[in-house]
Amino acid sequence: MGGAYNLKLLAALSALVLLLAASRPFLPGLLEAALRAPVLPRDLLPLLPWPVAQPLLRRLALRGAADLLPSFVGVAREPDDGGARAAEWKGACFYDNRAWMEFHNGTDGGLGGGTLHLETNKAHSWTCIDLYVFATPYRVTWDYYFVGREHTLDFKEWESEAEYEYVKRKGVSIFLMPSGTIGTLRALWDVFPLFTNTQWGENSNLAFLKKHMGATFEERPKPWVSELNVDDIHSGDFLVLSKIRGRWGGFETLEKWVTGAYAGHTAVCLRDSEGKLWVGESGHENEQGEDIIAILPWEEWWDFEVKKDDSNPQIALLPLHPDLRAKFNETAAWEYAKSMDGKPYGYHNMIFSWIDTISDNYPPPLDAHVVASVMTMWNKLQPEYAANMWKEALNKRLGTKLSAL
Ligand SMILES: *[C@@H]1O[C@H](CO)[C@@H](O)[C@H](O)[C@H]1NC(C)=O
Ligand SMILES: *[C@@H]1O[C@H](CO)[C@@H](O)[C@H](O)[C@H]1NC(C)=O
Repeated sequence: MGGAYNLKLLAALSALVLLLAASRPFLPGLLEAALRAPVLPRDLLPLLPWPVAQPLLRRLALRGAADLLPSFVGVAREPDDGGARAAEWKGACFYDNRAWMEFHNGTDGGLGGGTLHLETNKAHSWTCIDLYVFATPYRVTWDYYFVGREHTLDFKEWESEAEYEYVKRKGVSIFLMPSGTIGTLRALWDVFPLFTNTQWGENSNLAFLKKHMGATFEERPKPWVSELNVDDIHSGDFLVLSKIRGRWGGFETLEKWVTGAYAGHTAVCLRDSEGKLWVGESGHENEQGEDIIAILPWEEWWDFEVKKDDSNPQIALLPLHPDLRAKFNETAAWEYAKSMDGKPYGYHNMIFSWIDTISDNYPPPLDAHVVASVMTMWNKLQPEYAANMWKEALNKRLGTKLSAL
């Protein structure tokens, strides 16, 4: 089918020319006009820059907003002993697709990497193209296909033992990007790495805060953990945290950015009647993996933050001013803390402290669509987590579910 191949190649080349042309500021209007030709531009949309694709999409009303989200199509796993266990799905362009993973042995005791195989068949037109995002909690990459055949995507080396284990058990998640989303994809690139639990993710968070907020993080001389005299800490003293890695790191970065704060998390110290020190905090993960509001003994809290918190938290202790301390009503504070203990973390309010209008919440390049895209993907990678963040919040606002909070 050399002819078919050439036609598709031609189509893709002209799309690329359009793509390049459109990067010139005066051309998008022209281009848009040209695309109003009888040929529906739907097929070319994945290749168009977002500023061009977005008005087109709006005017042509091709799809509803929800259809613009990346859709999870499957997981590429290693075929098991019983035979192939490939993911199969229908794409937007290719109606018949399969994907599976192949692992490579590492050299010198390394973890090795893998190859994702993706077979595309039955394109519905000569010009169409499918755009995919491939993700693990440790990385994200993308590719697009316009030729029906077996494609491969190489993962040179797993980022860590954790990623290797994750892909062995859960595979690589595949998302189909809908038309016109290449701009979104580019914006996603700014945002998605923030959530990965890697040095790359941590550096991305720091770079993002620097670029968008002018915030710099200077490495302190060691020791990085101060010697605290617990006797100096009183009820009402405030703990301010800035997490910069992993899922909390990513969320806190966005939270800092959209709220203008330089901290993403806070907690409060409380002494009980016997003088024992406690920390009241929301977002504490319990044994069931739920994030709840908790009152923890100081030692336990501190030990976790210093030794186990993989979000690399930067913590500041801000003592209450003596005048205010004199007015601090410990009894009332304890009553309130106990009434909240064990309740789910306030996702409802957290996400809506960022989102209070439909479209004007995010500084560029982030828009509600990008946030929703990240959440959609995260939903598949970290289902229990994203479900809380997003669904609870929407349910609460839409009144679709009554909640105890
Ligand atoms: C990879 O390693 C496994 C066991 O360690 C071995 O059975 C297999 O043959 C190796 N595969 C390749 C391609 O070297
Ligand atoms: C402190 O709070 C408790 C409980 O709410 C209240 O009964 C008490 O009057 C308060 N004390 C002062 C000094 O306001």
